[in-house]
Amino acid sequence: MEQRAHWGSRLGFILAAAGSAVGLGNIWKFPYITGENGGGAFVVVYLLCVMLVGLPVMVAEILIGRSTQGSPARAFRTLAGKGSPWISMGWLGVASAFVILSYYSVVAGWSLHFTYLSLTGNLVNLVPAEFEPLFESMYASPGLNLTWHAVFIGLTMAVVLGGVSKGVERWSRILMPALFVMMLILLAKAFTLDGFDRAVDFMFGFRTDKLTGAGALEALGHAFFSLSLGMGAMLTYGSYLRKDDDIMGASITITALDTAVAIAASMILFPILFTHNMEAAQGPGLVFISIPIAFSQMAGGAYLAPIFFGLLVFAALTSAISMLEVTTSSFIDGNSWSRKKATLLAGGLIFLVGIPSALSGGTALFGSNIEGLVGKNWFDSFDYLATNWMLPLGGLGIAVYTAWRMNEAIRHDHFLAGSKLRHFYKIWLLLLKFLVPVAIILIFLHAIGLV
Ligand code: PFF
Repeated sequence: MEQRAHWGSRLGFILAAAGSAVGLGNIWKFPYITGENGGGAFVVVYLLCVMLVGLPVMVAEILIGRSTQGSPARAFRTLAGKGSPWISMGWLGVASAFVILSYYSVVAGWSLHFTYLSLTGNLVNLVPAEFEPLFESMYASPGLNLTWHAVFIGLTMAVVLGGVSKGVERWSRILMPALFVMMLILLAKAFTLDGFDRAVDFMFGFRTDKLTGAGALEALGHAFFSLSLGMGAMLTYGSYLRKDDDIMGASITITALDTAVAIAASMILFPILFTHNMEAAQGPGLVFISIPIAFSQMAGGAYLAPIFFGLLVFAALTSAISMLEVTTSSFIDGNSWSRKKATLLAGGLIFLVGIPSALSGGTALFGSNIEGLVGKNWFDSFDYLATNWMLPLGGLGIAVYTAWRMNEAIRHDHFLAGSKLRHFYKIWLLLLKFLVPVAIILIFLHAIGLV
């Protein structure tokens, strides 16, 4: 059997894990759900969810991975024993990776398309009324959706084929710093806009009037999605760590980076919207309709648009890499396959599973027809299923196993190894035992309409 691969350095692991966390969730989704929930108070609730629920689960996931040096299902088998029902938690993670990557790749494909349009000068020379039809026609086009979906999965496979340190780590070391620089350029521009002050007030002014219980639960669900928790991505990345790395310290850094990027993305988007008198509560079209309109009217917009859409692509790519790696690494562990065989098969299958999502906007078969059945098209159904059910369930399993079932010596030992943050152990365990399960069960009760 092949020796388990490891990260080349601690920084490499942090950049890869931050790359997994920072994604479309931060730049596309966080600003629009913040807008829909009225800003201020929602941001505070989100921060609390991240610190009190997300961070403890992240530590648990990485710890399970590192202590077992295995992909999700193998990790649970090593810990809980052959035939244990806990192994299904690992397979749930692999299933979530499949489901999420299949539709995530479609949105990433739109980002590629818009990057292409902006690089070829075909985006900012339109008049405002032309942007909505532009998005709609792309959304409805089977050809465009399938092509970009294939290109994006292809790029993701190319990185994962390279392996842990020569593929995932190497590309994270290139893409993540580039992403931070691109964000800084856009942030500097946003700072000069008239709408900046209003955006600060919108994001940090504490108004509770628009925050609802449903909004608070949305914040919690989003914290899972944004931190890449509940599907074994952090577990898999943790399995490539050596024993002397500080798990708690690394988790704090990854969580802080993820949160900083979500806030920075909002501080780029809202000043742009407010300067052009557009609304904050716009839903998913914000990034692909309103923002391009604003770029078309802004000084330097022709240069800023490709930077912005390139940023989305880089963010999506490093997240997609982690999702594909979950499946690839499971195939390698489970069947002793070569990385090449595992990656080609995993990527190919995910491409196939993504086809209905890619066709959701354009064909009655996967769009309106199934909408009649379940009230959502295929794409939205996958998103709903994954964020509201699969990730929280995976997170619950990881939290309950680590807090209530795991051998105390292993848990304690792995938490402390390489860490100066020993005094966090007790509070971490307390949160994992009580607050985390209660919070996740609330998400479920809400999903079935009981809360
Ligand atoms: N964290 C990613 C984002 O915010 O876009 C999405 C994601 C990646 C979710 C990896 C889950 C995962 F395992």
